[in-house]
Amino acid sequence: MADQAFSVEQCPSSQQCLIAQISDPHIKAGGKLSYRQVDTANALREAITTLNQLVPRPNLVLISGDLVDFGHPEEYATFKHILSDLTLPVYLIPGNHDDRQSLRAAFPEHRYLFQHRDFLHWVIDDYPVRLVGLDSSVPGKPYGELSNASLEWLDKILTEQPEKPTLVMVHHHPFVSGIDHMDQQPLKHASALENVIGKHAQVERVLCGHLHRSIQARFGNTLAISCPGVSHQVSLDLTPDGPSRFQLEPPGYLLHQWSAAHGMITHQGFIACYPGPFPFYDANGLID
Ligand SMILES: [Fe+2]
Repeated sequence: MADQAFSVEQCPSSQQCLIAQISDPHIKAGGKLSYRQVDTANALREAITTLNQLVPRPNLVLISGDLVDFGHPEEYATFKHILSDLTLPVYLIPGNHDDRQSLRAAFPEHRYLFQHRDFLHWVIDDYPVRLVGLDSSVPGKPYGELSNASLEWLDKILTEQPEKPTLVMVHHHPFVSGIDHMDQQPLKHASALENVIGKHAQVERVLCGHLHRSIQARFGNTLAISCPGVSHQVSLDLTPDGPSRFQLEPPGYLLHQWSAAHGMITHQGFIACYPGPFPFYDANGLID
């Protein structure tokens, strides 16, 4: 695994930064399939291969929670082993499937996970874009929550550097997605987070996982975006009381490209081999 003692050398220009995000790998131990269907370990390997081959290379990778499926130490060992193939710096937050203590125990070299005494909240100042991770996990519960003390911590952190473009990452979605069974396990009291985010204009995005598909929503004067799942996707079912189901649509990742000239642009890519790329033009112009 890449050393976590990163420096700005990996973002050679203070004028730009490229940040990849993947989410919800749900790793199981011993080759077990998630929900008896999904080879999540292999899916993460394929995602890492994709990320390692991106040109230009991202400066770092964010993983927005549900790192493993049941929070077991052996799952974190498997996750860590697979992640060791990633040749980019990586930063983690927990989701509802994670276990705070087991995650910390598995990644003692990820010192940022120990910044806060009670939660895996962290801030990284080593890049042209400031990174803030929030721990919304509630032991034994599928929904997420941020305590008043956590929101005060966030407000204080964001007050420190009002000019620096900032990404805030939290596993649970703080908006109504329209996918009913997921909206029954959202970030609770999301308006309290929205009030804090809305005070700090430098927040370029609130990045989430949990929804296992990419969804965008206006949130606190900025944009909240959920990242596709790295293996399985939650079914796009907007019917009221729709059942809790997933499907094996193409997995994906997000690329957040920030530059001083153009601000933050977010792209979605897919993790698979497709035909192409093919040219639009040849020597005679647009190909007919
Ligand atoms: Fe998940």
